[in-house]
Amino acid sequence: MSLTYTRDQLLADPPFAQRLRHDGRLLHGGLDAAGQYLPPRSAHRLAAIRGWREQLAAAGHLTDVLGPEVIPDDFFPSEEQAKVLLRNGARGAMARILTLIGLVEGFGNDGIKLMPPIDFRDHLVEPIDGTCLAHLHAGLLEAHGNDESGRGEECGHDQMWFAIRDAALDRPEILPEYFTNLPIAPPPGYEGPAQAAPEAISVGSMMEPLLDGVDPFFELTIRGMATILVIELMAFRTFEWAARVLSDSACSVDPDFAISTIDHIRVDEEIHVDYLQTALAELSTLTVRKTDGSTLPGAELVAAACRSAVDNQTGDRFDRILAYRYAQIRTELLEREDGEQLIAEFDALGPVPA
Ligand SMILES: [Fe+2]
Ligand SMILES: [Fe+2]
Repeated sequence: MSLTYTRDQLLADPPFAQRLRHDGRLLHGGLDAAGQYLPPRSAHRLAAIRGWREQLAAAGHLTDVLGPEVIPDDFFPSEEQAKVLLRNGARGAMARILTLIGLVEGFGNDGIKLMPPIDFRDHLVEPIDGTCLAHLHAGLLEAHGNDESGRGEECGHDQMWFAIRDAALDRPEILPEYFTNLPIAPPPGYEGPAQAAPEAISVGSMMEPLLDGVDPFFELTIRGMATILVIELMAFRTFEWAARVLSDSACSVDPDFAISTIDHIRVDEEIHVDYLQTALAELSTLTVRKTDGSTLPGAELVAAACRSAVDNQTGDRFDRILAYRYAQIRTELLEREDGEQLIAEFDALGPVPA
């Protein structure tokens, strides 16, 4: 099995028997002759990642650095809470949540573009030919960014979530305020309409060094990968929730499109989780060369980066997102005559943020 791939190979689409469209727009990926979904850029990418994972496992190493247990397992609003809103025609909260999911998917591409194109060989003692690490800046990160925000005429995850929103909620009006005062800040370099709330803008906590003596660009890259991995793992919770809510025909105008598209996105995200886990697991087996020539076990850098990423993404940030959602839901419901009664019904269906 080959462990070395060109950029073109890692970006190549498999042969599709059928492309996917929505509202006349081309979505990425497609179906094979049997109707099975084939992710975009997966002609070689899946086999490549599998090969690198098998190489690690064969050497007796772990292939994952983070498990799903690091992710908070509650989601607000709960499935039942979301359904009571939609059954009562209160679509604003759901339209807002789905808009934010799409925006955050797009942020992924901007986050990836922030990673400086460093040569990992300069920072590692052992050779890395034939590893996932060696292919990060040679196709893998570019393919990931394309998956999140599209390439050329093809829509990526951001536009796919907007399509799910519009299909399931029957083209809800998208208010300008859905893009402002967000609980999540866009990465530097983002040029779209989204604007963060003041309290969501962290003053470059990633800029403070984690470990003394590690090249700052190298450390930033590893921390960026760990952060994106945590966000990807958290996204699975969101997808499960969205699929359960939008598969209910009392809550969704187009459950079939919603379910199939969420499922396609989930399949694409598994690729992201797998290659990030693999690259970080590889680094855990290697030795980092510090700027003064001394060395550090890669496992120490990976553990520190993962710890910091989990701390940043859970805790305050997570609570802020939930509080934002609850405030919006209350505002929307209080504009209705039966608002108080609906809020009581909503609150009784599950915990609400403090
Ligand atoms: Fe995505
Ligand atoms: Fe992703």
